[in-house]
Amino acid sequence: MKSESIQPAKRLSGGIELPGDKSISHRYAMLAALADGASELRNFAAARDCHSTLGCLKSLGADVKVDGSTVHISGRGLHGLKSSWRTLDAENSGTTIRLLSGILSGQSFTTRITGDSSLQKRPMKRVITPLREMGATIHGRDDNFPPLEIQGGKLRAIHYQMPMASAQVKSAILLAGLYADGETSVTEPAPTRDHTELALQAFEAPVRKQGRTICVSGIAANNSRAALRAVSLDVPGDISSAVFFIAAASLLPESDLYISNVGLNPTRSAILDFFNQMGASITIAHLQSNTGELIGDLSVKGASLKGGLVSGDLVPLLIDELPMLAALGPCTEQGIEIRDAAELRVKESDRIAALAENLKRMGAKVEERPDGLRVEGRSAGPLHGAEIDPRGDHRIAMAFAVAGLAAQGETRILDPACAAVSYPAFFSELRRVSQA
Ligand code: S3P
Repeated sequence: MKSESIQPAKRLSGGIELPGDKSISHRYAMLAALADGASELRNFAAARDCHSTLGCLKSLGADVKVDGSTVHISGRGLHGLKSSWRTLDAENSGTTIRLLSGILSGQSFTTRITGDSSLQKRPMKRVITPLREMGATIHGRDDNFPPLEIQGGKLRAIHYQMPMASAQVKSAILLAGLYADGETSVTEPAPTRDHTELALQAFEAPVRKQGRTICVSGIAANNSRAALRAVSLDVPGDISSAVFFIAAASLLPESDLYISNVGLNPTRSAILDFFNQMGASITIAHLQSNTGELIGDLSVKGASLKGGLVSGDLVPLLIDELPMLAALGPCTEQGIEIRDAAELRVKESDRIAALAENLKRMGAKVEERPDGLRVEGRSAGPLHGAEIDPRGDHRIAMAFAVAGLAAQGETRILDPACAAVSYPAFFSELRRVSQA
């Protein structure tokens, strides 16, 4: 199996330009395929996941052209998708299958959708339940897992009190809501990323927000008004990709790194507050708003990190950053503790188990718990290089590459190509900005 060698480094310096945000790219692509006319999406994510979404949209008849990081999509309107004779392949992407399930529920045809072996183990009941309530007929393996067969049809508006804080579930319902009779609303138990709401607004869909409830009005097939307007949009850089460089630059005392065009949507940027509370040196420049999404540049210098606790409502706001936080735990003063995060067990891998196992391989002291873990800080001794098995999970591979920079001796990351799921250029960029 191929592997990537990571050597200890003294500093990260220079500039990083991030690929477009993965979550936002999925949403812009899906809405562009449902809009009337040609949309242009610039700085579209390089992430393999988002290209899985484009592949599915093409199979459904959307006209998609990729020109570097610019994607042109010609939509034929909300009711213009065509049935696909082949099973759609969401590959590794939970966002693709869950959000598309919402859209497919509103179609007048039946679609089968599946993914790779990891995706086939991820729970779909969370979207099946509300979409059935809206009127879709959905079959899945054990009534929970892909492949899913989604028989769309006429949908009714519902009010859904989400049992979990999940942006994917919220988004699936809101997208199905575009096809429902009346106003569909979703109330979240705690705030989650709001890119679907902002993207719906950007495409001029009838969406509104009242506290923790988001409402969308259905648009009937015979409505003469164009339902979603085609638009030209710039995708902000992905803060969840930036976090690996923020962590690496913070860990290495002589670092001075500039990361430009970072998406700073408040439902995603809690990670910066967390780093700053730990004592990191991160400053924001050139803050501006772009179609409702905040963006800015970050300057990161080396610092001594205190460590800390992530629990409760903070978990959904940091969900994709938890692998990186846990992996830097041994380099912090007090260590890192994560609670209330059982969701991590049903991500691209069982992230709690993958983190605990690989941290132990590097000599860290870790207590694995059902809903999180406790990673001891510097007093447990320095990390040493080891062979890391990321279990095919992009964020585990990248998190341990960063830990390897601060370890003693060589770290080998197995299957480094899995990083392409969110950040194909990660290892080459890391090599470019790190110095021994
Ligand atoms: C995402 C939502 C989160 C996140 C995932 C992307 C999205 O998942 O972990 O990487 O784009 O909506 P959940 O909705 O399952 O929390």
